[in-house]
Amino acid sequence: MYVCICNAVTEKMIRQAANAGVRTLAELSRRTGCATTCGSCADLAEDILHEARAAAAPRPFKLPLLTIPQAA
Ligand code: FES
Repeated sequence: MYVCICNAVTEKMIRQAANAGVRTLAELSRRTGCATTCGSCADLAEDILHEARAAAAPRPFKLPLLTIPQAA
């Protein structure tokens, strides 16, 4: 799906940029041209970028809770 019609930037390109380490809309704009013409795509592009970054973030490792028997 095209997110930025002016510069032919797709959702897939934004997700690839996020996976490559792009963190901000400004950086995305420098790399792809997204949101550099009319700017109407900026909010959607930023939402997709942040969602992709969150999905790619490592999840915290959760240890199971253990119950330690109490001494009588
Ligand atoms: S739609 Fe992205 S700059 Fe116009």
